[in-house]
Amino acid sequence: VNSPNRNLISLHEDAKKLYHHILINTEMGEQALEYLKNRGLSDDTIEHYQLGFAPQQKILEEFFKQKKISYDLLRKSGLFIEDADGNLKDRFFDRIMFPITDTNGSVVAFSGRVFDQNNQAKYLNSPETEIFNKRKVLFNFSNAKDEIRKQHSVILFEGFMDVISAFQSNVKNGIASMGTSLTKEQIYQIKRHTKNLYICYDGDIPGQNAIDRALKLLQGSQLDLGVIKMPKGIDPDEYRKQYGEDKFFNYVDSAKESPVSFEMQYLKLNRNLDNEKDLTSYISDVLKVVAKMSKPIEREIYLNQLTEQFNIDKNILIKQLDEIDAFEP
Ligand code: CTP
Ligand code: MN
Ligand code: MN
Ligand code: MN
Ligand code: MN
Repeated sequence: VNSPNRNLISLHEDAKKLYHHILINTEMGEQALEYLKNRGLSDDTIEHYQLGFAPQQKILEEFFKQKKISYDLLRKSGLFIEDADGNLKDRFFDRIMFPITDTNGSVVAFSGRVFDQNNQAKYLNSPETEIFNKRKVLFNFSNAKDEIRKQHSVILFEGFMDVISAFQSNVKNGIASMGTSLTKEQIYQIKRHTKNLYICYDGDIPGQNAIDRALKLLQGSQLDLGVIKMPKGIDPDEYRKQYGEDKFFNYVDSAKESPVSFEMQYLKLNRNLDNEKDLTSYISDVLKVVAKMSKPIEREIYLNQLTEQFNIDKNILIKQLDEIDAFEP
């Protein structure tokens, strides 16, 4: 690590400690701490993730000024917003602070969450800086990497709170991207540690769409993929809140399914299979999935299922499958 980077990291480490102190030990942090407790996070979890609070009154700029940190370094850190006169103001205020670490565990950015009802963006992330490239960073990776190796698998969640909830439930191989889809840099990073990736996104429609997109994106990545589908309408963190840590742990373990099994369900979404037009397009789409299967037995199983389920002559299915194969050899 070169020295400008080291200075930026040490700035972030100091900010982390200050935000954490404010959350845990001060009156300014009381409401935020209560909010986190109400969401069911334990003291240990809050400690482990070094969660913090950036209060309404901006304190960071003054804090670093007293420490005689140079204007240039503060400016480059991304922790401040510069006004027209070149004055720096805290970027984060009145937000719960989630430190974001690089692969070595050094804090390189923050994500801040609003916790009272207002109409600002729910999460605000640090901008890109010399030490923070959001295409490369995976939330919780530094913390999870030993466990990922030990368990030979990684679980990709949608949000930070899902990862944290998983950790509190003893599912310690969870990570999340920074609110965006996976990048090739992140996939490369994952592949260096395991070849088994499970996607566990929210159980709402956007979550299911995101699973579908992720599976497509990861095709050809040579990762062995699986899906952990949440019950309708809830995300992993809500599952933990509702059913508790033990049930969470068991659910994640038992709900693992193959991408194909997910895809077959997904194709039913927004379709009424009693309607002939919907049914025809559904079967076409299913056959496109079947066409991609390399194992004849796998194809056979799904063709039989379709035959039985919809009372369609298997030879007709095979004929249509051959046509798809002819187009996409
Ligand atoms: N996200 C974001 N900005 C938003 C909403 C979401 O950056 N305004 C990103 C965050 O990384 C968030 C993820 O997208 O963790 C998933 O969004 P969502 O499911 O809406 O949030 P949750 O993770 O469920 O957040 P919480 O439980 O704290 O409400
Ligand atoms: Mn502490
Ligand atoms: Mn979501
Ligand atoms: Mn969610
Ligand atoms: Mn949530």
